Amino acid sequence: MTDAALPPFGPGRHLLSVSQFDRPGLDALFALTEAVTPIAERRSVCTVLDGAVLCSLFFEPSTRTRLSFESAFLRLGGEVTTTTGFTFSSMAKGESIADTSRVVSGYTDVLVVRHPDEGSVAEFAQASLVPVLNAGDGAGEHPSQALLDTYTLRKELGTRGRTIDGCTIAIIGDLRFGRTVHSLMKLLAIFEGITFRLFAPPSLELPDYIASFVRERGHTVVHCASAVEAVTGADVVYATRVQRERMTEELPPSLRGSLLDRAMLVEAEATDIVIMHPLPRDSRADSYDLASDVDDLPGLSIFHQTDNGIPVRMALFLTALGVSVEAVTMTLRQRPWDARLR
Ligand code: NCD
Repeated sequence: MTDAALPPFGPGRHLLSVSQFDRPGLDALFALTEAVTPIAERRSVCTVLDGAVLCSLFFEPSTRTRLSFESAFLRLGGEVTTTTGFTFSSMAKGESIADTSRVVSGYTDVLVVRHPDEGSVAEFAQASLVPVLNAGDGAGEHPSQALLDTYTLRKELGTRGRTIDGCTIAIIGDLRFGRTVHSLMKLLAIFEGITFRLFAPPSLELPDYIASFVRERGHTVVHCASAVEAVTGADVVYATRVQRERMTEELPPSLRGSLLDRAMLVEAEATDIVIMHPLPRDSRADSYDLASDVDDLPGLSIFHQTDNGIPVRMALFLTALGVSVEAVTMTLRQRPWDARLR
């Protein structure tokens, strides 16, 4: 199925691509996200999904995507079953995606799937009896990440009196294999007047069709020769890890040191820029990623992104399962515990 043929995301629908959102759809999802934030932050307890079961099927490594989808479902009062990796599923015995999906969807109310092949999650969706949410299909899309990134971007710019419309965003790193960048740029295209300042090392450049996609919708794309050039004058920088697991060739020797560090931000006079990254950040020596010496800068938003992943994913589940805010409110109760460190 091409993106254009996908129906808007809503009750009883799969989430496969960010192309399922227009501006009103995004506003509705973000309003729901705000409404469930007290539950996400564990200020109150909700049992609206009591009796519902999520199955998460992750055939690629994941920490925050799987745990935040699962935590989101648990915070709504549902139950979670999980299978991770090919080894512990019958796919190791040669079972097809279609059979696996049909079987598991008979046990559960919603599936969250991550798989290394582009287009594979759409195959799961085709055979499933219940909504399937795409948690990353190879170098294809990662729609829930783009949604939480956009939600975070809107909030961070909002605290600075800015909007996504008209902003300048530097996107740097592995723009070729980084699916979060592909989904984010496609989603941001529904806003207006954005300037994208791109920097990617040789052989890791953004696929042309994505640059064309945003240009056709009236946005500006500027290709920069360095990370310093890209962040100069930008409101936000979105940095990404080199996706070594998707590369067959050796890394070029130029990929040494940091992709972006504090000295580069000082050189670009950009030390108050909003700093985003989908994470994980590769902390090994010479990993060519965002350096940790930026962590005490005021615009660091990487952990706001991870925190926002919970309410955004709660809103996705409520939407797919057709649950209203009123139904959520009816089940709210005070939490009897206090988990803060003292
Ligand atoms: C990203 C992914 O899996 O695409 N991680 C995530 O879900 N937050 C980015 C990455 O792995 O680099």
